[in-house]
Amino acid sequence: MTDTSATSRTYLLCPPEHYTVSYAINPWMDTTAPVDTALAVNQWKTLCEALTEHGHTVHTIEPEAGLPDMVYAANGAFMVDGAVYGARFRYPQRQPEAAAYEKWFRAAGWRFVAPTETNEGEGDFAYVPGPGFILAGYGFRTDPRAHAEAGEALGRPVVSLKLVDDRFYHLDTALAVLDDETITYYPQAFSASSRKVLRQLFPGAVIADEADALAFGLNLVSDGRNVFVNAEATGMAAKLESRGYRAVPIDLSELKKGGGSVKCCISELRL
Ligand code: ARG
Repeated sequence: MTDTSATSRTYLLCPPEHYTVSYAINPWMDTTAPVDTALAVNQWKTLCEALTEHGHTVHTIEPEAGLPDMVYAANGAFMVDGAVYGARFRYPQRQPEAAAYEKWFRAAGWRFVAPTETNEGEGDFAYVPGPGFILAGYGFRTDPRAHAEAGEALGRPVVSLKLVDDRFYHLDTALAVLDDETITYYPQAFSASSRKVLRQLFPGAVIADEADALAFGLNLVSDGRNVFVNAEATGMAAKLESRGYRAVPIDLSELKKGGGSVKCCISELRL
């Protein structure tokens, strides 16, 4: 039986004041589709309010002009046990974000480990508190060499998982941690071997289907009970509710145009 009790969390988010879609580095981004930045800011504020209303602490980082994807704070770093493994972005358009996030973490007094390998932070790293290990994605953005580097930086075992569907280019578009030992994932986003690994490690996982994944239903943040999830992902919300979680739908339609949703906007600060 899953213990679905909430624990209060601390998150880092970046307001989408400079958000737009001016380049395309994933299949969701269409530079010809109009983006309503003011609406994105309002939707993002609703997300922040939902987090604080559920007892969580929200920190924000100052957005920088010319870095439209900086709103996806999950990519800025990956933190476990108070130590931060910094990001190193795959595409030049996002590379300056790494320094902005590094500055924030250092100023806040966290132990910061600078990476030498390409990795996109919590976009491709997830922490499972019960067994105390890290799940790490590769195939599109993060270099598998960064998995070993993260394990060394953070002193936690790392399980590497290969992503094979470019619509789900970051681990956090295909898999999420729901509580200390339960995850949810969309099996077809992973190679056959990685699917086998996931089945072995997580026999009780909540299995998502293609519709759930396409609705960004896996790009969620859970506090162990309340699950903040993209409002479009109604099927996913129903699955979560049937497993004892409480779905909190958040409308982030504007940010989906950049290829991200709830989880992409949130970096969890694990003390
Ligand atoms: N436009 C961004 C990119 O392609 C979206 C990042 C989404 N973030 C995430 N954690 N999946 O890099």
